[in-house]
Amino acid sequence: MKPIVSIILPTYNESENLPIAAERISQSLSDFKHEIIVVDDDSPDHTWQVAENLKRRIPQLKVVRRLSGKGLSSAVLTGMGIAEGDLFVVMDSDLQHDEQILPEMIRSLNDRGNDLCLGTRYTKGGSTGKWSLVRVLVSRFGNTLARWILRQDVSDPMSGYFGIKKDLYSEVKNNINPRGFKILLEFLARGSKDLKVEEIPYTFRTRIHGETKLDNSVLRNFLVALLDIRYGKWISPTFLLYALVGATGIIVNLGGFLVGEFLGFPDLNTGISYAGTISGSVLLGIELSVLSNFLFNNYFTFYERRFQSWNAAKGFLIFHSVSLFSLVLQLGCYQFLTKVVFSNDSHSLSISVKLLCDFLSIGASLISNYFLNSNLTWTKATRK
Ligand code: GDD
Ligand code: MN
Repeated sequence: MKPIVSIILPTYNESENLPIAAERISQSLSDFKHEIIVVDDDSPDHTWQVAENLKRRIPQLKVVRRLSGKGLSSAVLTGMGIAEGDLFVVMDSDLQHDEQILPEMIRSLNDRGNDLCLGTRYTKGGSTGKWSLVRVLVSRFGNTLARWILRQDVSDPMSGYFGIKKDLYSEVKNNINPRGFKILLEFLARGSKDLKVEEIPYTFRTRIHGETKLDNSVLRNFLVALLDIRYGKWISPTFLLYALVGATGIIVNLGGFLVGEFLGFPDLNTGISYAGTISGSVLLGIELSVLSNFLFNNYFTFYERRFQSWNAAKGFLIFHSVSLFSLVLQLGCYQFLTKVVFSNDSHSLSISVKLLCDFLSIGASLISNYFLNSNLTWTKATRK
């Protein structure tokens, strides 16, 4: 007989946790016909083997061992792809998600007609358990941002514990970005109609065995996922991060200039007679902003392709050359626009036309800069 509910358990190095988790889940669901699907990414600790052995005790267990392809979201999608129930529940296999609320989740989807139900850590009755302050802040910040961008009023859109109707999954599965950690966001955002969502509170438990697979890029990746969901149709989310970093560069640039002025930086001789001297403070501002832009782009915008340790010096050199090129390009564009395109022999150009020319030149340099940096500086090959 077909199961009512399919529990999807992504695992990576959870050999100690999985047997306990699977046992607890099947106990909690003893009144419901269910299956448990373990999707393991060929864990070095042989979680897949442990799962295979568990089948003897828990016959409703299915195991997928993926040899190629990695990642939480895509593992979840793989599990859903073979699930036979009309309802799916995704949960951590590390005992952090409380299996006691599973029956309530099923009632939420089946009896109360919700499309999605979220195990949530924040509504009344829920709690994050013992979390470090940083983790609480990151999670809260992410949630606030998500609510703002998704325009869905849920208290915990980063939750990895949720139930979903198969119908909703079938409707959106082809529009989903399978990368990363944020599969729930995709379901919340890509559905065509207004979703009925319910939240069910629980207390997030502290991990006992194994370690978390979240690294410190999680917030950055989350931001990318949100930008992709909201603006991805029009513009690359990496470009948006890049532009954001560029904006911070302006502030650093101004700050560097002020410091230079305050310290009385001298003007520098260019050695070119018609160019005369240039302001040392301006130069300091530029250098500092190139450096800060490099660092932010390396550890934020292009995090996945970042230069590590001493390689960063090499990356900085390439980045610096690209920046110089773009500076020359911007100057050249401005000259071309003012002297050729908008040139007017009888009058000098009005300030608004000059401003337009400058704006267009900045745009050209930003785009060329982005293109060169994403293809030359941070290529996949330079990683590590
Ligand atoms: N197959 C597979 N492949 N499973 C994975 C992978 C992967 O690449 N990465 C992680 N997992 C499994 C883990 O084994 C665990 O069962 C579950 O996915 C969640 O990973 P954790 O490492 O336990 O994440 P967490 O507990 O720190 O993060 C929690 O909070 C996040 C943000 O709020 C989880 O609830 C996440 O699901 C949630 O997104
Ligand atoms: Mn976990």
